[in-house]
Amino acid sequence: MFQYKSGGFYLSENVLIEAEKFIRSCYKELNKTEKEIEERLHQIQQQITEFGYYEHTKLELEYGAKLAWRNSNRCIGRLFWNQLEVIDKRHVETEEEVFEALCDHIKNATNNGRIKPLITVFLQKHLNKSIRIWNHQLFRYAGYETTEGIIGDPDSTELTNYCINQGWLPKYGRFDLLPLVIQINNNKPKLFDIPKELIYEVPIYHPDYSWFADLQLKWYAVPIISNMTLEIGGISYTAAPFNGWYMGTEIGARNFADEKRYNMLPQIGSLMGLDTNSNQSLWKDKALVELNIAVLSSYKSSGVTIVDHHTAANQFKKFEEKEMKIGRKVTGNWTWLIPPVSPATTHIFHKPYNNVTEKPNYFYQKRPF
Ligand code: ARG
Repeated sequence: MFQYKSGGFYLSENVLIEAEKFIRSCYKELNKTEKEIEERLHQIQQQITEFGYYEHTKLELEYGAKLAWRNSNRCIGRLFWNQLEVIDKRHVETEEEVFEALCDHIKNATNNGRIKPLITVFLQKHLNKSIRIWNHQLFRYAGYETTEGIIGDPDSTELTNYCINQGWLPKYGRFDLLPLVIQINNNKPKLFDIPKELIYEVPIYHPDYSWFADLQLKWYAVPIISNMTLEIGGISYTAAPFNGWYMGTEIGARNFADEKRYNMLPQIGSLMGLDTNSNQSLWKDKALVELNIAVLSSYKSSGVTIVDHHTAANQFKKFEEKEMKIGRKVTGNWTWLIPPVSPATTHIFHKPYNNVTEKPNYFYQKRPF
């Protein structure tokens, strides 16, 4: 334990405790010696006493971000936690530089469709410094509230309203990408349109139903979560956008299917000629399966990485086995891990998971708007 004496900064004591926990477990996993651990802890203690915070080494940042993924209880894709690529942008200071780094992230993560798991980490939160990206994901479609109902993604109405109030021009389409909203400290956020050449989207077709194209559905290639905070050893990175690739059901069983999102099932059901007045016809289930087939096959034929829920569950099983072999306990949130289509066909459905939160991890943070 540290001998912490200075009365210095609010929360420093907590930072010390968290830092020590992180350094000990991280350095042990990395096969560092006891001497290296003690030396690093001493250094950190000095930094905290002097400044109220400390700075991670590149290695700590990189491994911390990976551990945060490994500890993400809701994520079924964790087999690949160690393949996360970590881009260190802690030196970046202006909104324009943040935007530039986000463009780089999009380009590298998209990788012409062979999606790479990637995180870009900006400046850690200080006493009077912070960076926030207001968007939930770097790519997200606007949701316009009109007298005839919502056009676009109902999940985005608040940010859409904000952007319009800031002078962003609404186009009233169903798939208009929102601008990136970047805030530094308490300054007014700046808005940036994503350059056209960086936008990868997949038009959705069904391999057997040619009418499916008439629905004019499309979705973006890469889900890059941008509003969560990455917490490593008592330090918070409030801007640390990260991505993996999609599992088909995220799009086909939620984004397109939820009544409070694009709500496509009634239309698909009736185009399939199903009896949409009878629950017993299982028209929703049939429509859902065909919609998910359309999503998977469209991504595949566009050359964009995607995984079906059966394969993802098998990969998760492998992750569990690997972790057990190394002697680590897998934590998980069952309610999130089971896929929203045919959950009982996967092993995940049939066992309990311990939903305790280990750190490092990614956390929700208070909405800035
Ligand atoms: N469920 C979210 C969406 O549909 C994406 C969450 C992250 N997903 C992922 N495969 N990494 O946009």
